[in-house]
Amino acid sequence: MASEILFTQNTAEVVQKFLSQYSQALVIVDENTQIHCLPLIGSLFSPDAVICIPSGEENKHLGTCEVLWSAMTDKALDRKAVVFNLGGGVIGDMGGFAAATYKRGIDFIQIPTTLLSQVDASVGGKLGVDFKGFKNHIGVFQEPKAVIIDTTFLKTLPKSEIRSGYAEIIKHSLIADAAQWKELLNITDVNEHDWVHLTQHSVALKDRITKVDPTEKGLRKILNFGHTIGHAIETFYLNQPGKRLLHGEAIAIGMICEAYLSEMKGFLSSSDLVSIEKYILSIFGKVQIDSSALSDIVELTHQDKKNEHGKVLYSLLQSIGQANFNIPITKEETLSAIQYYVQLN
Ligand SMILES: NC(=O)c1ccc[n+]([C@@H]2O[C@H](COP(=O)([O-])OP(=O)(O)OC[C@H]3O[C@@H](n4cnc5c(N)ncnc54)[C@H](O)[C@@H]3O)[C@@H](O)[C@H]2O)c1
Ligand SMILES: [Zn+2]
Repeated sequence: MASEILFTQNTAEVVQKFLSQYSQALVIVDENTQIHCLPLIGSLFSPDAVICIPSGEENKHLGTCEVLWSAMTDKALDRKAVVFNLGGGVIGDMGGFAAATYKRGIDFIQIPTTLLSQVDASVGGKLGVDFKGFKNHIGVFQEPKAVIIDTTFLKTLPKSEIRSGYAEIIKHSLIADAAQWKELLNITDVNEHDWVHLTQHSVALKDRITKVDPTEKGLRKILNFGHTIGHAIETFYLNQPGKRLLHGEAIAIGMICEAYLSEMKGFLSSSDLVSIEKYILSIFGKVQIDSSALSDIVELTHQDKKNEHGKVLYSLLQSIGQANFNIPITKEETLSAIQYYVQLN
């Protein structure tokens, strides 16, 4: 069942309405959202209804799910109980997965507290955890009962995390909304921005796309724009202290590389490519990628998505505001795209 997406500046009021519909409730937080976000709704819950798990992608695994399932079991949550996931994408994906599998699934409500999770992770019903080094390897598609989006939470979010989430807003505009892209060009300082309007707009875009194709058989693939090369770069720098990139920072690089491929394939005009790369660089700056890293990054893009002819299927831009998918790209073409980024200044 499709979820209800509620925009508010008063999360407590919305949560209170839901609470009256359930027998019991559990709130999942991490140590940061416990301090910064729980106070906004904490008075609605007794302290033993709150379970805190350690923050970070490195804790997004089945071991933490066991902690959550144990807490649900110890508190004897029945099938009329509800779980609130108060946090970023890690809490949302993992808390949602734990709820969706506990007793074959109880209701859960997403309260995303990062920009990335508000405009991306909390919409579309993908849940799961990492497994044996593979991201989101174990999971399910399951819609939450509701998503409550309140930009008030963003006030305490580190600026780098704001910028990381902004990459997904840029992506949504590039693949589906040329008019919004023009508006984004006026945003020069993401720290000063009021996100109320843009989160609504971006969520509506993702919601529209994922409703057409909930399980990613076709159209939903356009959301992967920037992510084939972006993920490879994110993975490459994952284990390099000091060089690690946030998801959106890597996707920003990926979008420039893949806009280049879009132009190379004859879809995107050169002037649009220049406009995209100039804007993204003005927000994210230029990341130094050593030439010794290039072949490893190319290999990573081809790692597990190879099709029979050794090409990878990309989602590219047809123009600004329009994307296509299943475009075969060779290793040489991927390499040239990353080299294109490297020579920019
Ligand atoms: N399900 C999907 O469709 C989907 C889409 C995109 C990303 N994701 C997943 O989302 C995850 C990334 O999400 P994220 O970027 O939100 O990261 P995150 O959940 O790790 O949160 C980032 C950091 O911000 C802290 N934080 C959260 N809210 C805060 C607030 N309001 N104030 C201060 N600190 C706060 C967190 O404790 C954490 O340290 C990844 O695991 C990714 O796989 C899922
Ligand atoms: Zn992403």
